[in-house]
Amino acid sequence: MSVFTEFSRIARSFAPQTAIVLGSGLGGVTAGFSEVATVSFADVPGLVQTTVQGHHGRIAVGHWHGTPTLLFLGRLHFYEGHSQDAVTAPIRRAADLGVKRLILTNAAGGIHPSLNPGSLMAICGHIKLIGPNAWRTLAVGTAVKMPYSSRLLERMCLLAGVYAALTGPCYETPAEIRAYAASGVDAVGMSTALEAEAAAELGMEVAAISCITNKAAGLSAAPLDHTEVLVNAKLAVDQLAALLGELIK
Ligand code: HPA
Repeated sequence: MSVFTEFSRIARSFAPQTAIVLGSGLGGVTAGFSEVATVSFADVPGLVQTTVQGHHGRIAVGHWHGTPTLLFLGRLHFYEGHSQDAVTAPIRRAADLGVKRLILTNAAGGIHPSLNPGSLMAICGHIKLIGPNAWRTLAVGTAVKMPYSSRLLERMCLLAGVYAALTGPCYETPAEIRAYAASGVDAVGMSTALEAEAAAELGMEVAAISCITNKAAGLSAAPLDHTEVLVNAKLAVDQLAALLGELIK
């Protein structure tokens, strides 16, 4: 029996209704999670190993404060050279395992003046500047709604803002950030939008939370780098852990 077949057997016996995707440096929120089984992305058909520092690239099943939960520790990014089908493959695996609700988390740069390192933003809409759409079945010209659930947005009681999903892997120029700010963007990152669209298309209820790890380029004197992102991601860990605990109840 393959490693994934055995993992799937255990995961199905748990019947997790919720999956959580943990973004860069956010692995530390799992204190409330008791893991029962895990599989590396590399052992899951259709998934590849992530290459990004701070992303482990594995799926775990277990209980989050007593609630059966599927947890993705790390994700696949468009900027690693993966197609949108590869980036959204973990979401389809979650749907195969019976998941009905998806909570996406990411590290993001804050543009809205109140978004400082360590704060959280609930995503209420996105501007997807990453390649083509993840929707697979829409006819030409179909109107699409934002994939984020208003019920979950209300439950989060956080500042709700617009996330711009960018191709990366480099950060933005200050001029780009000024343009995004003028277009109504509150936070910038390099993930989440494709996964949210794929999940909504699969009929899942979707929530997404940005953990602000830095002021976006040009908005602070501090130099921007991935190490800073990983260090600052830890600032939001306690608040994020509490929020996830509430959402999966
Ligand atoms: N820009 C894009 N992605 C990010 C940032 C940023 O400033 N911070 C964390 N992920």
